[in-house]
Amino acid sequence: MTRLAGKTALITGAARGIGRSFAAAYLREGARVIIADIDMDGAMATAGDLGRDNALAVKLDVTDTASIRDAIAMAGGEGFGPIDILVNNAALFTAAPIVEITEQDYTRVFDVNVKGTLFTLQAVAEHMIAHGVRGKIINMASQAGRRGEALVGVYCASKAAVISLTQSAGLDLIKHGINVNAIAPGVVDGEHWDGVDAFFAKYEGKAPGQKKAEVGAAVPFGRMGQAEDLTGMAIFLATQEADYIVAQTYNVDGGNWMS
Ligand SMILES: NC(=O)c1ccc[n+]([C@@H]2O[C@H](COP(=O)([O-])OP(=O)(O)OC[C@H]3O[C@@H](n4cnc5c(N)ncnc54)[C@H](O)[C@@H]3O)[C@@H](O)[C@H]2O)c1
Repeated sequence: MTRLAGKTALITGAARGIGRSFAAAYLREGARVIIADIDMDGAMATAGDLGRDNALAVKLDVTDTASIRDAIAMAGGEGFGPIDILVNNAALFTAAPIVEITEQDYTRVFDVNVKGTLFTLQAVAEHMIAHGVRGKIINMASQAGRRGEALVGVYCASKAAVISLTQSAGLDLIKHGINVNAIAPGVVDGEHWDGVDAFFAKYEGKAPGQKKAEVGAAVPFGRMGQAEDLTGMAIFLATQEADYIVAQTYNVDGGNWMS
C-alpha cells in the first residue's frame, strides 16, 4: 500500500469533500500531501486530522496566479517539494435558468473552475519542468462536462472546458513526460451536493433532500457516489502504471453517464 512513496502531491480544494478524501488516500499510499485551499482554517483542520508530518496546509486561491506561485514556493520552503502530482480539484457550483444567469455568477464560477484549473496547471507544469519531474496532473471534470443541463448551463460549460483543457495540456505536456488526465465523477454525496440540492429545491420546487434522493436512485450502481469511490482512479492516474495514458477523461460514476 505504498504506491506513491517518495512522491509529493498538491491537491487544490482539499479542505473538504473529494479533495480531502484524495489527500487521505495519497497519504495512505506513502505520499506527502500539500492541502491547498482558499479556506485556510479548513485546510489546517484537514492537515491536522490526516497527516501530522506528511500533510501541509497552505492557503491557495486558484483564481489568483500570485497566490498559486506563493503556495508552491511556500510548500518548497517547508520541504514539500518538488511537486510530483497535482490534483486540480477546487471548483464552485451554480445553477439558474438561462434567462436568469448573471455575468457576475458566470465570472465567479469560470474564474475558479476554468481559469483556476488552467493557471494552477500551468504553474505546476512549469515547476515540474524546471525540476525535471515527470509528473502527473489530474483535473477534476464532471459528467456535467459531457452534456448540457437545463438549469446548469454555467457549471456544465465550465466542466466541458476542463475536459478540453485536459486534452490540450495532455497533448502539449507529454513531451516533458508530464501526464495530464481527468476524472469525471457523477453525483457524489457531500457538502457540494447539499448545495446542488438547494438549487433544485429553489428552481424545481422540490423538498430539501428530494433531488438528492432522486439522483441517487437513478444511478445504475444503485446509490450516489462517495468520495472514496473515486480514490482508486486518483491513485492509479498518479502512478507510473498510468505513464502511457495521455489527455483522457475517465468517468467514475456508477454507470451514470451511460444510463
Ligand atoms: N460532488 C459531486 O457530486 C461532484 C460531481 C462531479 C464533479 N465534482 C467535482 O469534484 C471536485 C470536488 O468536488 P467536491 O464535491 O469535493 O466539492 P466541495 O465544494 O465539497 O469542495 C470544494 C473545495 O474547493 C475549495 N475552493 C473553492 N474555491 C476555491 C479557490 N478559489 N481556491 C482554492 N480552493 C477553493 C473549497 O473551499 C472547498 O474546500 C470539484 O471539481 C467538483 O466540480 C463533484
